[in-house]
Amino acid sequence: MATTLLLKHIAVPGIKSLDVYRNMGGYASVEKALRTLTPNQVTEEVKKSGLRGRGGAGFPTGMKWGFLAKPEGVPRYLVCNADESEPGTFKDRYLMEHIPHALIEGMITSSYALGARKSYIYIRGEYFYVSRILQHAIDEAYAAGWLGENILGSGFSHDCYVQVGAGAYICGEETALLESLEGKRGNPRIKPPFPAVAGLWGCPTVVNNVETIAAVCPIITMGGEAYSKIGIGKSTGTKLISASGHINKPGVYEIELGLPVEEFIFSDAYCGGIRNGRKLKAVVAGGSSVPILPAELILKTAQGEPRLMSYESLAEGGFQTGTMLGSGGFIVMDDQTSIVKNLLTFARFYHHESCGQCSPCREGTGWMEKLISKFLSGTAHESDVDLLWDIQSKIEGKTICPLGEAAAWPVAAAIRHFKSEFLELARNKSYVEINHYKRLQPVS
Ligand SMILES: Cc1cc2nc3c(=O)[nH]c(=O)nc-3n(C[C@H](O)[C@H](O)[C@H](O)COP(=O)(O)O)c2cc1C
Repeated sequence: MATTLLLKHIAVPGIKSLDVYRNMGGYASVEKALRTLTPNQVTEEVKKSGLRGRGGAGFPTGMKWGFLAKPEGVPRYLVCNADESEPGTFKDRYLMEHIPHALIEGMITSSYALGARKSYIYIRGEYFYVSRILQHAIDEAYAAGWLGENILGSGFSHDCYVQVGAGAYICGEETALLESLEGKRGNPRIKPPFPAVAGLWGCPTVVNNVETIAAVCPIITMGGEAYSKIGIGKSTGTKLISASGHINKPGVYEIELGLPVEEFIFSDAYCGGIRNGRKLKAVVAGGSSVPILPAELILKTAQGEPRLMSYESLAEGGFQTGTMLGSGGFIVMDDQTSIVKNLLTFARFYHHESCGQCSPCREGTGWMEKLISKFLSGTAHESDVDLLWDIQSKIEGKTICPLGEAAAWPVAAAIRHFKSEFLELARNKSYVEINHYKRLQPVS
C-alpha cells in the first residue's frame, strides 16, 4: 500500500472545512509543537526528516531554516510561495483547493519554529478563487483560536495573510516574490544577501513552497526520524506529482519517493499508460524548465538501471543523460508529438515571462523563440540548430536569477536528444500548423 501523507484524506467529504479536517487529526502538529516542543526542537525534527524543498531546487528545508538570522528586536517572516506558474505544475493548487487547512496548519507550525509573528501566502493571480478558499480557511482558524493571540495558551501569537499576485512567472522566484509582496515590480534581487538574512522589508525571511510547508505537519506529528524512513536515500518522504500530457489518467498523485518511473507512467494506480495505445516518446519530468528525456533515458539510466522518481535517480548522468525532479510537473509525450513544436510553446512562455533585467535572458529568450519558430515555418537552415545551441549556451549562469537557466535548459536538451527533428524540419522546409499560436507568423 503506497504511503500518502498530504492527500491521505482527500476523498473525505467536507475535508475543506475546519471541523472535518480537525476530525481527521488536523492541527495535531500545532498542538504537539506548541505544547511539547521548543521552536528549535521543531527545526531539529525538520532537519532529521531530510525534507527537501518541493518548489523545484530541492534544498534541505531544515538547513534553510537554520540559516535564518536571529537578531533581537527584528521581526522574522515566513513566506509561502504559492505562485506555481511553472508550466506542467498544478499540485499546489490541488492541495490548497481541496485541503486548505493542511497549508494553514503548516504555516502555524513552521512559523512557531522560525519565531515568525506574521506569515504571508503569496498566491498567483490566476488562482484568485483558491485565494478565497484559503482566506475562508484562515477565518475559520482565527475563529477556532488556531491563529491570533496566545494560541493554545502557549504564549505564541501568529497572524497569517494571503496576498494575490498579478500573474507573473517571475514572481515565483523568491526575491522577485518578496519585491512584489512589498508592492514593487517583481524583479529578482541580486544575492547575497539571501532572504534568510535580508528578506521581506529587509528582515530575515524564509520562503518555502506550499507543499514543503504542508509536509511539516506530518513530520512533526510522526517525528522527523519516522518521516526520513519513507522514500529512498536522500529523497525522503512523499512528493506530489502533477501528471499531464498523453496519459490515460492525468492528475495529481502523491508518490513515495523512489517509485520506479516506469511504474508511475504505466501502472493503473498512477498515470495508467499512454493514451490510445500509443508509444512513449519523451518526458519532461519536473516542470517545463527541466531537460526533456527520450523514453529510453527516462525509464532507465544510461547504465541500464531503472530510473526512479527521486532527486538523485532522475539527475543520474547529469544533463547529458539525466534530468531533475524539479517541481514534479511530469509531462508525458507520445510518439506523435513534435518536440520542436512543444519547445516553441515553452520558449514563447519564457520570452513572455522574462522580467527583462538581464540582457542575456531578455534578448536570448526572444532570439530562441524566433529561431525555433523558423523550424516550424519552413524557413530554417540546418545551421540554425548550431546557432540555437550557441544562444542557449550564452544564457546559463549569466543572469541574476535562474529564469535564464529555465529558458535555456529545455532548448539544450531538445537539441541534445532530438537534433534529427530540427534537421529534418530544416531540410524539408515544411510549414507546421500551430493552431493555438496565432501570434506566430513565418519569419525570414
Ligand atoms: C523563475 C522562477 C520561478 C519560480 N517559481 C516558483 C514557484 O512558482 N513556486 C515555488 O515554490 N518556487 C518557485 N521557484 C523557486 C523559488 O525561488 C524558491 O527556491 C522556492 O520557493 C523555495 O521553496 P522550497 O525550498 O520550499 O522549495 C521559482 C524559481 C525561479 C527562478
